Amino acid sequence: MRILITGAHGLLGQKLALVLGRETDHDLLLTDIAPRTFFIHDRYDYQQLDITRLGDVKSQVAYFRPDVIINTAAQTDVDACEEDRLGAWRLNVDGLKNLIIPARRIEGCRIVQISSDYVFDGTQPPYSEESRPRPVSYYGKSKLAAENALRASAVDGIIVRTQVLYGTGYQVRSNFVAWVLTMLEKGNAFRVVTDQRGNPTMADDLAYGIFKLIDKKCMGVYHVSGPESIDRFSFSRRIAEVFGFDPSLIAPATSREIGQSAHRPPDSTFITLRFESQCDFRLSDTATGLSRLRQQYREGAAHTDLLDDSRFPSSSSG
Ligand SMILES: NC(=O)c1ccc[n+]([C@@H]2O[C@H](COP(=O)([O-])OP(=O)(O)OC[C@H]3O[C@@H](n4cnc5c(N)ncnc54)[C@H](OP(=O)(O)O)[C@@H]3O)[C@@H](O)[C@H]2O)c1
Repeated sequence: MRILITGAHGLLGQKLALVLGRETDHDLLLTDIAPRTFFIHDRYDYQQLDITRLGDVKSQVAYFRPDVIINTAAQTDVDACEEDRLGAWRLNVDGLKNLIIPARRIEGCRIVQISSDYVFDGTQPPYSEESRPRPVSYYGKSKLAAENALRASAVDGIIVRTQVLYGTGYQVRSNFVAWVLTMLEKGNAFRVVTDQRGNPTMADDLAYGIFKLIDKKCMGVYHVSGPESIDRFSFSRRIAEVFGFDPSLIAPATSREIGQSAHRPPDSTFITLRFESQCDFRLSDTATGLSRLRQQYREGAAHTDLLDDSRFPSSSSG
């Protein structure tokens, strides 16, 4: 197979590159907005690709003729989406549409679109793939519009909804766990909300789950997340415990007190049965996921596989 990944420098993109590089012998074309890449292993090809530029996307897709396109590129900063709605729409919705247009011309080409629990309002958990979406943020609206664009297209699609992604990689943006660890390292007291609950998801596991979905030729919507529902405050205290910090540095707060620009769903707990039964894979719970992450930090091995040829075959992050 020929697989094109967008946003390959992001957290999930890096993990996908690792997992697909290790588990398959498919041709992998990694793309991202950056002109140059840190992926130096000969297992990967890299091309700069800004998915908001239709002409570039058309030529790249027509040239590579992928069997699968995995679209991880997105504006993932929920508050930034609220503040720059046009920019969020261009990337999260039009970007996917730009991929659909040339994909339609390639027989059998499938698109894997990464979506989010933020398509739900979080008032009626737990959420299955059949639950009715009702986003309360602009980010959520843009992710739902992208889902609908893929559904309405003639292209075969897998919509992977996930949430509270965590992990480490080479120069990746901060995520909830990374932020909590940074705060704990500083040693000052800080507050975390008790009224936002969901299923933390280890990025390495999510990438492996996406590999399984592709491999098993699944189609349609899948909820893919860690098995455990937990509020952010309790999760942050667990992070402190696993990483050996003082959990009492973290104090409880409400979303109203913290004052984020975008509304968040209070409880977007997922039902993940469809994915688990069809793919025969269950993602790590928080105890296991955080211990694995701590090990990755200790070994400093989170990204060396991408940078150093000799280590690639022994990667074990999946
Ligand atoms: N993070 C979460 O908790 C979470 C939860 C649910 C769903 N998701 C979804 O999961 C997917 C992956 O998330 P992630 O956390 O891995 O994201 P990420 O780390 O922010 O990675 C996104 C990548 O896309 C790149 N990019 C930005 N604009 C681009 C463009 N115009 N064309 C091509 N690439 C572009 C980014 O580059 P720059 O960094 O240089 O901008 C970055 O390398 C996203 O679709 C997100 O919506 C994430």
